[in-house]
Amino acid sequence: MHGNLFLLERTGPTPSFFITIERPSGAGQPPSGAARSLTLFMHNSILVTGGAGFIGSMERDTTSIVNLDKLTYAGNLRNLESIANDRRYEFVQGDIGDRDLVHRLLNHHQPKAIVHFAAESHVDRSIRGPDDFIRTNIDGTFALLEETRAYWTALPDLERARFRFVHVSTDEVYGSLGPDDAPFCESTPYAPNSPYAASKAASDHLVRAYHHTYGLPTLTTNCSNNYGRFQFPEKLIPLMILNARDGKPLPVYGDGQNVRDWLYVDDHCEAIATVLDRGRPGETYNIGGSNEQRNLEIVETVCDIVDEMAPRLSTPRRELVTFVKDRPGHDRRYAMDARKIERELGWRPKETFETGIRKTVRWYLENEGWVRDVTSGSYRQWIAAHYSV
Ligand code: NAD
Ligand code: TYD
Repeated sequence: MHGNLFLLERTGPTPSFFITIERPSGAGQPPSGAARSLTLFMHNSILVTGGAGFIGSMERDTTSIVNLDKLTYAGNLRNLESIANDRRYEFVQGDIGDRDLVHRLLNHHQPKAIVHFAAESHVDRSIRGPDDFIRTNIDGTFALLEETRAYWTALPDLERARFRFVHVSTDEVYGSLGPDDAPFCESTPYAPNSPYAASKAASDHLVRAYHHTYGLPTLTTNCSNNYGRFQFPEKLIPLMILNARDGKPLPVYGDGQNVRDWLYVDDHCEAIATVLDRGRPGETYNIGGSNEQRNLEIVETVCDIVDEMAPRLSTPRRELVTFVKDRPGHDRRYAMDARKIERELGWRPKETFETGIRKTVRWYLENEGWVRDVTSGSYRQWIAAHYSV
């Protein structure tokens, strides 16, 4: 090796590294003071969008993180208390659709990558009011891509080659499977059925187009349903845990036979980190837990664990199950074929559903303060309006 890398200093508002590459002046000669040296400013932070939400707040890395989050009802700084004082972490409250803000952030922090989680993410809310889903998931992603393109285009060659934009998306873009259909793979045609899924599909297409048209080094991940700590209790699993704990009805849509593939959130984050590290720009990667279950099975499992871990009620909690009116356009089955990310990048889930769901139930039972905070006024209004008929 003729070149040497020397770590010189850490500077700036977020840690960055100045690197000196010393090149020997001639073959066989050792590097000397007279050797040519090239000093590079190496970009080392990652811009995370939506990092105060359920999944984005799990994204922990040894590099520095700038978290741009609007703090909608789903964003919660309590999810990030454990790293709030870490000097490698910076929070910025703002909208991904605010191009001036994104422009300033990119040029100030000079990130080496963007991991884009920010989205409106709840199917039921998208059915009641799609506007925010169009604004954030489509317009917001477009604004972020435009500012990223301008920033990336102006980077020096080395940084431009290293830069990555990871777009975090969902299996719902593929639509619904019949009972005997093969799981979704990366080449399954898009067929989104809810306003949420359609808005995510549109954002996936934009990301794809920015790679094909402009060469932006984008990668897209499409993941199945996540569960774990810090999930806002409007989604199936945390809602059922809290209602079961309190002896309230457990509202199961339709016949409860809809199938979802459940993945523990830490496994999802590890998959995203793997794609960021080793994924091929321009590619998409499906992520899943190979853990298909009917909604009713999930709810009954939750009931049994809550019976075991929380004070008992006079009757088993399974008796709280209440079948309610089905969600309009409710997708019957999702299943993911995650063999590509396993084969090409060596990722596979670590947590089994049996262990992951027990950890999750225990976390909700032990974190009453967090639960109290997020189940405040506006949450109660949503629950009252949504489950009133
Ligand atoms: P979440 O709703 O818990 O969090 C979304 C975060 O984005 C919140 O912190 C919110 O404040 C922020 N946000 C919303 N609009 C914003 C805007 N305009 N500007 C900046 N920040 C904004 O969602 P989640 O479950 O953590 O999902 C994160 C991503 O993963 C989403 O893109 C979602 O589509 C995708 N995904 C989720 C799942 C799942 O099961 N939860 C599965 C697959 C993919
Ligand atoms: P959800 O957690 O909203 O995720 P998604 O719609 O993105 O899959 O719902 C998971 C499944 O649970 C879905 O089939 C709808 C169903 N469900 C219920 O049966 N009752 C509920 O109260 C909720 C919120 C969801």
